Amino acid sequence: LASTEVDLSAIPVGQTVKVLWRGKPVFIRHRSAEEIAKAEADDNADLKDPATDESRVQKPEWLIMVGVCTHLGCVPLDVHGTGPDGWFCPCHGSHYDLSGRIRKGPAPLNLPIPEYVFLNDTTVKIG
Ligand code: FES
Repeated sequence: LASTEVDLSAIPVGQTVKVLWRGKPVFIRHRSAEEIAKAEADDNADLKDPATDESRVQKPEWLIMVGVCTHLGCVPLDVHGTGPDGWFCPCHGSHYDLSGRIRKGPAPLNLPIPEYVFLNDTTVKIG
């Protein structure tokens, strides 16, 4: 399928779902106000692949990105609530923050943002 439609109404605040798009996992996280604030506060941190949080989202509460580590392609794990919030790649220890930006480890780039469009308040079309 070239594109995938996702019903966002089924994703509670603070949860991530993984959908498949063109054979790749896409993470869709419903971010809390606190998560958004933390992600924005890190805009000026020492980032390996500098990007503001705003540049990585269309709506701050929805973080949508391709769940493929930019090091060697493993699928990072959702580790929110277990330490530094974000995603952790179990293969070689890369850590991505609440905006999917690379913060530690060997991965060179942030998790990629796929093309997507909001069809209405509760539906997003990826691709
Ligand atoms: Fe993710 Fe190497 S594939 S850190």
